Amino acid sequence: MEYARIAPIMGRLWSPIAAVTSHWQGKSNAQIAVAIAAASIVPDMPRVVLQIYKTNYSHDLIYNSGSFALNFLRQDQLELIKDFGLVSGRDRDKLSDVGHAPKATGSPVLDDCWGFLDCRVVNAMDGGDMTCFLGDVLDGETLSQAEPLYWRDARREIPAAWNEEWDRKISGEIEVSKQRMPNLDFKPWQPKG
Ligand SMILES: Cc1cc2nc3c(=O)[nH]c(=O)nc-3n(C[C@H](O)[C@H](O)[C@H](O)COP(=O)(O)O)c2cc1C
Repeated sequence: MEYARIAPIMGRLWSPIAAVTSHWQGKSNAQIAVAIAAASIVPDMPRVVLQIYKTNYSHDLIYNSGSFALNFLRQDQLELIKDFGLVSGRDRDKLSDVGHAPKATGSPVLDDCWGFLDCRVVNAMDGGDMTCFLGDVLDGETLSQAEPLYWRDARREIPAAWNEEWDRKISGEIEVSKQRMPNLDFKPWQPKG
């Protein structure tokens, strides 16, 4: 199959851009994600699914703490794509200059964003190269009336150097994913504690 034939469909499945924050054993982190979807039809039992790549530092924090927060970005927060999405928390404390405070699950929530969801993991599915987390939404708020930020729009706004850096990073990660995707672990996820 030629990917170009399905690219317009696949591209539209990405969510608005979120800074995914996590906290485990005294360490906090933030990464960018767009693989997020609503996963409940019951308004007073909201759920989301979130896919996180195993190579990311955030994966360890989310997997071990059983929680994460989704901080959806405003259109004027392009800088955070570079700060959170192009470097790893293994190399830098990405939250040191960004205002945040812990909410119900203990995950840090950004003071300034389009809106946030604070989530506890209730199940997870292995995807070989990534884990798909199902989370109960315990708290959240919409903080802006404007539209959130989407990657297809952000790509046209960010400096060419960031786009080039992203293309380099993602091409390396695609090679890792190709190797790992067939190796699915079918053992069921167990709740922590
Ligand atoms: C626009 C954009 C979308 C991304 N979407 C995801 C995603 O859905 N899931 C994921 O695990 N990583 C995603 N990433 C990659 C991570 O944000 C990136 O690898 C980050 O450096 C990981 O940081 P960490 O090692 O501190 O956890 C995305 C990055 C960008 C720039």
